[in-house]
Amino acid sequence: MVESWEPAAVNDEKVHAHGGQILHENGFWYFIGEDRRGRSRVSIYRSRDFISWERRYTFTLDAAVDNSFPGRDTTLEGGACGRCNLERPKIIRSRRSGRYVMWMHFEYENDYREARLASAWADSIEGPYFYTGSFRPLGNMSRDLNVFTDDDGQAYIISTTDDNRTLNIYALDDDAMSVREKTASLFPSRYREAPVLFKKDGLYHLITSGCTGWKPNQGMYSWSHTLSEGWNELVPFGDSTTFDSQPASVFEKDGKLMYLGDRWGGDRESYFRSTYVILPLRLEDGVIEIGDEK
Ligand code: GAL
Repeated sequence: MVESWEPAAVNDEKVHAHGGQILHENGFWYFIGEDRRGRSRVSIYRSRDFISWERRYTFTLDAAVDNSFPGRDTTLEGGACGRCNLERPKIIRSRRSGRYVMWMHFEYENDYREARLASAWADSIEGPYFYTGSFRPLGNMSRDLNVFTDDDGQAYIISTTDDNRTLNIYALDDDAMSVREKTASLFPSRYREAPVLFKKDGLYHLITSGCTGWKPNQGMYSWSHTLSEGWNELVPFGDSTTFDSQPASVFEKDGKLMYLGDRWGGDRESYFRSTYVILPLRLEDGVIEIGDEK
């Protein structure tokens, strides 16, 4: 059994950063993810030693709104089913403005029919973030998502579309706040979600889960020399439940690639008991495995 990673918060509260991202910025580790307590939606934790984590900012339903993006819906509450959930938040830094842009998946409570992207921006990674609203990228449904910045600074979003059948990659504008164009449609009708896109030694890598909600399933990966085409057939990694986890993010620590996955509680009631899994990610000639070498 792969052990859960349960990061310790400095003030003894449980860390809520589900569907999250770990990144290194300004000399600190940041752990960003879903925090559904009360009116909270996304929390940002910070650590110097990767052991104790301090919550530095929480994006809530009361966030200030930036209405300057026409065609977006800036309501954070309301809708047919009540309040919104903001899932799988990921932060990317714009190469033009230097601003931090948080991209999220927008839905109303248990109803997944909205299938929208949402975004917010801030001058500092620790906020405050201004909500810029939700929309469907180029009119497409958009659920599980991730962000990726290429070596040339170009930022992308990858998200599930067409009721989770297909994964779309979109290039963002230089301010990382708008979707410019579709770069690729990957694995049509294969129902892959929880995408994580990263690049190592000139090769693009994609890891994904299958679509079984918060129940874990077999992770699969692919690789390609270009983002737009040439992706290899999907290959399984981990075990049939990806060691009881679903991909959230890949990051580099001490020169090594690390896999961050969610070990979800399994349903809506146990969501708040969800923990995390961190494992070394081994990569050789495009082949991916997680966990220590046997
Ligand atoms: C999963 C998805 C999670 C969450 C969950 C809800 O498929 O990856 O982010 O949306 O479904 O059931």
